Amino acid sequence: MSQLVTLHEFIVRKQRDFPFASGELSRLLNDIALAAKIVSNDVRKAGLVDHILGAQGGQNVQGEDQQKLDVVADQAFINAFQNGGEVCGIASEENDDFLAFESQSAQNANYVVLFDPLDGSSNIDVNVSIGTIFSIYRRLSTCGTKAERQDMLQQGTAQVAAGYVLYGSSTILVYTTGNGVNGFTLDPAIGEFFLSHPDMQIPENGRLYSVNEGNLNDFDPQLRSYLAYCQTTANQTGKPYSGRYIGSLVADFHRNLIKGGIYIYPAVPSAPQGRLRLLYECNPLAFIAEQAGGLATDGKKRILEIQPTELHQRVGLYIGSKKMVEKAMGL
Ligand code: AHG
Ligand code: MN
Ligand code: MN
Repeated sequence: MSQLVTLHEFIVRKQRDFPFASGELSRLLNDIALAAKIVSNDVRKAGLVDHILGAQGGQNVQGEDQQKLDVVADQAFINAFQNGGEVCGIASEENDDFLAFESQSAQNANYVVLFDPLDGSSNIDVNVSIGTIFSIYRRLSTCGTKAERQDMLQQGTAQVAAGYVLYGSSTILVYTTGNGVNGFTLDPAIGEFFLSHPDMQIPENGRLYSVNEGNLNDFDPQLRSYLAYCQTTANQTGKPYSGRYIGSLVADFHRNLIKGGIYIYPAVPSAPQGRLRLLYECNPLAFIAEQAGGLATDGKKRILEIQPTELHQRVGLYIGSKKMVEKAMGL
């Protein structure tokens, strides 16, 4: 008899570890898995169906061109949350402001979700891996009322759960509830996620560095000297470090999580606060990195301890293997 464990079964088993758990978070995680399957199916059809591939014709609040799939994915997750009834409000990259759901059942819900519906959307048209990143918090506002801005602007340390879905050579969902990191691969034939990567740990010292080297001249001297170190110093394999940069944060992060490595996107003149968004890109991945034994900082301080002030706030990001992040920070 095989030992296959579905995501649903895994979530149920974990809930039993907490005898007083109400099941709301379990149901929310299952809602996310459902939306992930819908988006995965859409991603697999990109290029075949006109309403999926290409530019949407608008821009998001950050002035970036929206792809049709950005909007399709955003709506798939919002629908799953509204139907599921465990979420009182959301914030996402594709919505200028947060959304407070109107229905009474939503107002009675205890959670908010912040998410990047499609990360790496410039890679959609060229068939390169993309993903979804999500972060879950308990609301601070009173249950039974509409979600408020304060529910969205919580420090990363307050995350109840976080994860990502990578639509790559297979579709994988990786998440943490603060008790380790586990990954589940989608079997597309039957539409089930199965536990494929139990208790994920990031190697303490990897061999890969991921950075947009086109920005090299804008990096500060410390980062330039760290990259020169990576390019010239033999690591444990006897060879210099290898550069790997996909341009989808979620895919670069996933590879480095498994193989060991560092991803760096610092503040640069073209993005003076950094390029990546604190609430729905950096915080969820930082929670996962720490749970897997890695580190995530803005180059100076821990990502999870930054107090957010804006929904689409950007920060620098140094994330990955513990020893590599420490070295890149000059520690
Ligand atoms: P998004 O597609 O959600 O806007 O995110 C894009 C991000 C991230 O995925 C990626 O690592 C980074 O932008 C790439 O930026 P550069 O093209 O400047 O390297
Ligand atoms: Mn993104
Ligand atoms: Mn995005």
